[in-house]
Amino acid sequence: MSDKIIELVGISKEFDGGTLAVSDFNLHVNRGEFVTFLGPSGCGKTTTLRMIAGFELPTKGKILLDGKDITNLPPYLRPVNTVFQRYALFPHLNVYDNIAFGLKLKKVKTSFRDKNGNMVERLEHLKKSEIDKKVSKALQMVDLEEFEKRKVTTLSGGQQQRIAIARAIVNEPEILLLDEPLGALDLKMRKDMQLELKDMQRKLGITFIYVTHDQEEALTMSDRIVVMKDGEVQQIGTPQDIYNEPTNAFVADFIGESNIYNGTIVGDRKVRFINKVFDCVDDFEINAKVDVVVRPEDVEIVKPEEGIVSGQIVSSIFKGVHYEMIMMVGKSEVMIQSTKEVKVGDTIGIRVSPDNIHIMKRDFVSNVYDGYIDKINKVHFAEGAFECDVTQLYPGSHLDSEGYVITTAGEKIDLTNVPVRVEVGLKDIEIIDNDEDGDAKGSIISIVYKGDHYQIIICTDEEEEEIVCDTEYLWNENDRVSVKIPKDKIKLTLKAVEKK
Ligand SMILES: Nc1ncnc2c1ncn2[C@@H]1O[C@H](COP(=O)(O)OP(=O)(O)O)[C@@H](O)[C@H]1O
Ligand SMILES: [Mg+2]
Repeated sequence: MSDKIIELVGISKEFDGGTLAVSDFNLHVNRGEFVTFLGPSGCGKTTTLRMIAGFELPTKGKILLDGKDITNLPPYLRPVNTVFQRYALFPHLNVYDNIAFGLKLKKVKTSFRDKNGNMVERLEHLKKSEIDKKVSKALQMVDLEEFEKRKVTTLSGGQQQRIAIARAIVNEPEILLLDEPLGALDLKMRKDMQLELKDMQRKLGITFIYVTHDQEEALTMSDRIVVMKDGEVQQIGTPQDIYNEPTNAFVADFIGESNIYNGTIVGDRKVRFINKVFDCVDDFEINAKVDVVVRPEDVEIVKPEEGIVSGQIVSSIFKGVHYEMIMMVGKSEVMIQSTKEVKVGDTIGIRVSPDNIHIMKRDFVSNVYDGYIDKINKVHFAEGAFECDVTQLYPGSHLDSEGYVITTAGEKIDLTNVPVRVEVGLKDIEIIDNDEDGDAKGSIISIVYKGDHYQIIICTDEEEEEIVCDTEYLWNENDRVSVKIPKDKIKLTLKAVEKK
């Protein structure tokens, strides 16, 4: 089952107006595989799917099907069918006619002998009996055999979605593309349909390429997951690979709960984070800035004096199987999952075994912060409050006169106190030579000459957050400064936990 059916080779898509929706996407999909594209809204999942379907042409790269270039092949010539989030059934037709619709249009090659006894080939419509057979087989697949005569408007959302799937599989595609097909269903229905879809895929033996922003859905259903962010592939792997060995902090954060800290390598297999030194197994150069990821279930609870660090439990919630607790170490939170309960207010020690400390080299290309939006739509991070464009959190949205975000679906969203991930480029920060006029302030703690510019690190006063800036001007260590950042240079994304 390892023969490739589809290959994407260096696919990019730039829309008119310059949006780079997908950038250098490489992937092969094996026959019969269930592959999921996972990532936040706007990361390019749908665009990639539409290029595979042929609705959109890549601006770079090519698409191979069974080794043949199909990059410019029109959609109807590809052995591919798509199921969308909005099922788009025909409301005036019954279930049978909805499913049979495509089959009735389809013509197949038939050969027969003419009056003179010569073999001739002709394109003919499918016979009614054949269509009947195919429709009932598809309905059986989605477990709705007795629904042939029902009007689609009398069906529940889940049933309508199954009809949409039946309509897609009745054409016997080699590849089925599914774009958030369960997004419109309620949680319970979604869980049931996840298992059914996976089961159906096994029975049909067709290749599924599935799109979702729901990490749990991806982990449950997929043979392999492609994690995407900003049009770029972050990691491709089995659900286990991606959960256990995330390649960067974004993937770790997006896939399940994680403790993520800024760390520094301080010695041979020693890393400092939350102001303590831990043993680890990865070998990095000394002083390297790293992201440290610790899964909450890997934090061991011990007596305060036996821990590498100790702290007080400030919250404890029973989650059915385990307790989820938050411990404070200075200003850092440590999330712990354990079957043992620790009461709020108790002090404990913690240990983490070296191979459960995942270290990822941080390419210092931008500053990344945990922030939140306040009631006047400013974003708070690095001990400052900055003007920002909150509509970027919901592509296509706008602000109403009271400052609420209105989504393309017309939903009104209050962002007050919503946690966000904030990203600011090193070159997008203006340094001001006093600590009053800017939006966040601190002292310069490091200046490094990088060939043609200086890289400066400003440390904020209380939380000791670092602001890294590239500048052509020379500053001095210990200078008191503040910073300004243009509104359009502050990149915001909703934190993954918020989307549940
Ligand atoms: N037809 C289009 N024209 C211009 N930009 C588009 C178009 N379709 C999508 N985009 C942009 O491309 C990016 C990726 O969109 P999309 O593939 O729909 O993401 P996802 O499915 O992951 O939510 C977004 O920034 C979106 O606004
Ligand atoms: Mg989409």
